[in-house]
Amino acid sequence: MQLNFYKNKILILSGAALFFIVIFSAYFSTKPYSTIQYVKLCGQNNAAEYPYQNPNLPIEDRVNDLMARMDNADKIGQMALVEKNSIHNLDDIAKYGLGALLSGGGQKPDDNTPAGWLEMVNNFQAQTKKTCLQIPLLYGVDANHGHGNVPGATIFPHFIGLGATQNAELVEEIAKATAEEAAATGIFWIFSPSLDVIGDTRWGRTYENFSSNPKIVGDLGKAYIEGIQKHSDNGLQTAASAKHYVGNGAMQWGTSINKNFFIDQGVSNLSEKELREIHLEPFRQAVSAGVKSIMVGLNTWQGEKVSANYYLINDILKGELGFQGFVFSDWYGVYEISRSKYISSVKAINAGVDMVMLPFDYKGFAADMQLALKKGDISQERIDDAVRRILKVKFEVGLFDQKFAKNLKPKLDDTGKNRALARKAVRESLVLMQNKNNTLPFSKNISRILVAGSAADNLGKQSGGWTVEWQGIDGNWIPGTTVLEGIKGAVSPDTEIQYDLNGNFADTVSLADIGIAVVGENPYTEGWGDNKNPELSNEDLSAITNLRKKAKKIIVIIISGRPLDIKRYAGNWDAVVAAWLPGTEGEGITDIIFGDYPFTGTLPVDWEI
Ligand code: BGC
Ligand code: BGC
Repeated sequence: MQLNFYKNKILILSGAALFFIVIFSAYFSTKPYSTIQYVKLCGQNNAAEYPYQNPNLPIEDRVNDLMARMDNADKIGQMALVEKNSIHNLDDIAKYGLGALLSGGGQKPDDNTPAGWLEMVNNFQAQTKKTCLQIPLLYGVDANHGHGNVPGATIFPHFIGLGATQNAELVEEIAKATAEEAAATGIFWIFSPSLDVIGDTRWGRTYENFSSNPKIVGDLGKAYIEGIQKHSDNGLQTAASAKHYVGNGAMQWGTSINKNFFIDQGVSNLSEKELREIHLEPFRQAVSAGVKSIMVGLNTWQGEKVSANYYLINDILKGELGFQGFVFSDWYGVYEISRSKYISSVKAINAGVDMVMLPFDYKGFAADMQLALKKGDISQERIDDAVRRILKVKFEVGLFDQKFAKNLKPKLDDTGKNRALARKAVRESLVLMQNKNNTLPFSKNISRILVAGSAADNLGKQSGGWTVEWQGIDGNWIPGTTVLEGIKGAVSPDTEIQYDLNGNFADTVSLADIGIAVVGENPYTEGWGDNKNPELSNEDLSAITNLRKKAKKIIVIIISGRPLDIKRYAGNWDAVVAAWLPGTEGEGITDIIFGDYPFTGTLPVDWEI
């Protein structure tokens, strides 16, 4: 009896202790959230009268004036770059004073039209008017081969094709046209150009880059940055982002931290000397071209995520190269630095990251940063430097000086000039890999042409990843011209054209003059495209075999983001053309194969056939 009494007491006591432990730990784990300081909101306010709103003052004075009016909640908010789908409550934009938003690949408004995009961005911008300081948002997108998220945008060749043109002037024009189409939807910040120097072409991001030659990457990258940043619309300019700083092209097979990938998000295993000589060079050029922002990659170098590397970001990029814009992190990269989100943010900011991309949770970031400042884990000077850099770009772009994008017309390309430019780029990007007995070019008066292959009549395949959806699309439901349509438009009215995806043509007495196979890779993006042996599919190979039997000569046009292994087959084909990922203007291909223009493209990476 006595024993039982004590037993019960002990049980009750330990139960109570457990209860308190749970309550305490719950309290402490949520403490940063519950003590978070929000950004001040003002109903009627006079922000419009503050000196920083005066477009006639020098930018430095405007930044100083604004900085002096900001508290740390305002400042930390500016350092957050949030994926728009993570904003479940619109009021949070003002409450946390968010500095920037992005649409990840394929993250569209409900009304997925240019007007719908403009309205979405303007609605987000309008939220900032509730805060006392009314600091506008930067809104960023991956417009990396045109404003690809938006159906109807001009889709230019992916960078690997532009690398084949080696035409810096053309690349600058394309960047300008892209900025123009993005601006028409209220967007003035583009996460491009990608300046990774291609190493292993099994990497799923090979096509997002210009070349394996650092000089070409640097020269075309510089042209691209100048094109984006020269564009101006209603007094607004556009900021480019060079990415992914640094050494991404050197990531090695089998080192990815993502269990679904092989190379992407992996380890760049190379010495500082190689890193500098090959991978840093394009960034040096980007900085001297005045690039306004730089995105830090998801790779690891010398045992550390680059986003945590003080030497690479602070010493080399900001110190040695003298980068004056702001540095931001990529996707979830900062939180991959350590298991603790707090430690991760502290390390990244102290390494020199000025703005953190937060695809999911911004509340925890704000709480962690406020705590880090209080505890002295991050200095006030570091925060101030980060925010100054961000504000400077916002002033330079002109975001403070215009009433959102109200006066913009959400039209992408009224005159067709961007499409004409894309068509030109396609022409210049084609590389003639093989041409037995001068098979190419063809006459437009051929009597019968057979066309086959999975990429002959498919704008989605032609355009590759980052087209409407993150991983690209299938089919012909966006504006543009497929290769098949291009062929139909090019030949004489008397030419007979037959098309079958699989090359199953009926037997005829005589062989067709020419068979054109347009074959290649299905779209992919990032690590989903890592592939141990990039090659043609069995379906495409059998379409080519079928075609071979029905035509006197066959040419194979390869639509791909990288070299495909065709060594075993190419000997059997008359001509081979590398067309990369040309985008929506398939006529650029027919302009060349029917001889209106000569082949001028050169291989941007090694490709033996
Ligand atoms: C990619 C970046 C891209 C970002 C935003 C990341 O996963 O690595 O290149 O800019 O997502 O979409
Ligand atoms: C986003 C992309 C991003 C990727 C990273 C996707 O959900 O749409 O923009 O690059 O995630 O894994």
